[in-house]
Amino acid sequence: LVLHLWRRSGGSSRARGVPALPSVPVLGSLPGRCCGAAPSPALHTDLQKLGPHFTLVVNSYDLAKEVLLTRGRDFAGQYTCVLPSRDDIAFCDYSALWKSHRRLVHSALSLFGEGGRLQDIGKFFVPPLSSSSSSSGNAFDPSAAVTRAVTNVVCTLVFSATYRRDDAELKEVIDYNNGIVETIARGGLVDLFPWLQRFPSRSLTKLKQCITVRDRLLQRKLDQHKASLSDGDGGIDPRDLLEALLRGQEGQKSEVISDDHVLMTAAETFGAGVETTSTTLLWIIAYMLHHPEVQARAQRELEEQVGLERPVRLSDRTRLPYVEAVIQEGLRIRPVSPVLIPHTALTRTSLGGHPVQPGTRVLVNMWALHHNPTDWPQPDLFKPERFLDGRGGRVSPSCFLPFGAGPRVCVGESLARLELFLFLSSLLQRISFSLPPAGPVPDLRGRLGVVLQPPPYLVVATPRHT
Ligand code: HEM
Repeated sequence: LVLHLWRRSGGSSRARGVPALPSVPVLGSLPGRCCGAAPSPALHTDLQKLGPHFTLVVNSYDLAKEVLLTRGRDFAGQYTCVLPSRDDIAFCDYSALWKSHRRLVHSALSLFGEGGRLQDIGKFFVPPLSSSSSSSGNAFDPSAAVTRAVTNVVCTLVFSATYRRDDAELKEVIDYNNGIVETIARGGLVDLFPWLQRFPSRSLTKLKQCITVRDRLLQRKLDQHKASLSDGDGGIDPRDLLEALLRGQEGQKSEVISDDHVLMTAAETFGAGVETTSTTLLWIIAYMLHHPEVQARAQRELEEQVGLERPVRLSDRTRLPYVEAVIQEGLRIRPVSPVLIPHTALTRTSLGGHPVQPGTRVLVNMWALHHNPTDWPQPDLFKPERFLDGRGGRVSPSCFLPFGAGPRVCVGESLARLELFLFLSSLLQRISFSLPPAGPVPDLRGRLGVVLQPPPYLVVATPRHT
């Protein structure tokens, strides 16, 4: 089936004629769902199926294009959370205010287009000091070091703070962000089953605590930025995202963008930006451990085009097509968001020729798009050359949508691409990754939390030059 409709038992099909799985009482069509060759348990789609909403699941590029682009505005609604609604982008509904907030964030993020503040960011990646163990040599789990490095970069971008490895404030940011990421999937359960709120939920309590710590820290940064702006301390260009947003707020004709919008944008840059970027880097390192020839080729390209002495610049991007192809293939083979944030039909519309009622949710299965053997021969193989044309040029098929598309496309796409490029190239310039002597290769099957993560694995990081 290209397009499935799952419905709650007892409900009548609201999109008649759409192929539907047979359903049984209470569990709807869950037992009948065919499990594909996807390496992860599809908990995310399973849970969403159980919700009290009509849900369409889109598994093909043609239908995804219809949802995201051709009828993008019809399907630009978000599902309603029972968690208190805030002025963010990802979970707010499509409206004039939301559009103007999104535009402001987009232009504030584009200020980082030159990547000036991000030179040589590989230096933020500091392997643990004592990572040796007799059985695994100098091997360590890279996830904490990658998360710390990416968080540090986001702190620089958002409020101009760059921390030392053991700084207490950096630890606070990492801890609350991890807490939110870990609990939000369980918090999501409450969104699907509002009656769960009646029961004490440790996850929900932890989520709320982390949000309080986050808001306190970001409010402090916001107040400091406001004070320095009113003291006239700002230069011609805003020094960071908070300053860019505050200046944009001043420039609004009516005061629509509130302080909470500014605070939530900062929060979202961490919430939506750290886990996704770190996880993509962890997947790429994991695949390079499986394919040392890919790492060697990327390092050769870096040596020939940039050398090992000076930091990689954003302007080197055009001269490093293979490094870029490695990133693209990482985003394809393990999309961190294998199913897009649910879209909701805002109006009576149609999909694949079938009528769709307002309020119907649509899940776009990015995994299916990125593993369709017609578009991607041998889709389970890691082959960066897919994104090269054989003459050194780049190709990017239209069915490749790691950041979504249309009105709700990832607002941080250009920032994320810039970070991934500078991180990976800067890391490969200074470090070679290899497997521990007796260590297993990383498990590539993936675990689904808020994003699709690689299970923990060990790596040895050998400096290339001192
Ligand atoms: C939405 C991917 C990094 C902010 C999304 C969506 C995807 C995605 C697939 C959903 C699009 C849709 O539903 O149609 C990624 C990946 C990233 C990344 C793969 C890194 C490798 C970032 C960063 C930011 C960010 C760095 C921070 C500025 C957002 C926001 C949304 C979003 C705010 C919601 C947009 C909306 O609903 O209008 N992202 N993202 N993302 N992303 Fe990202």
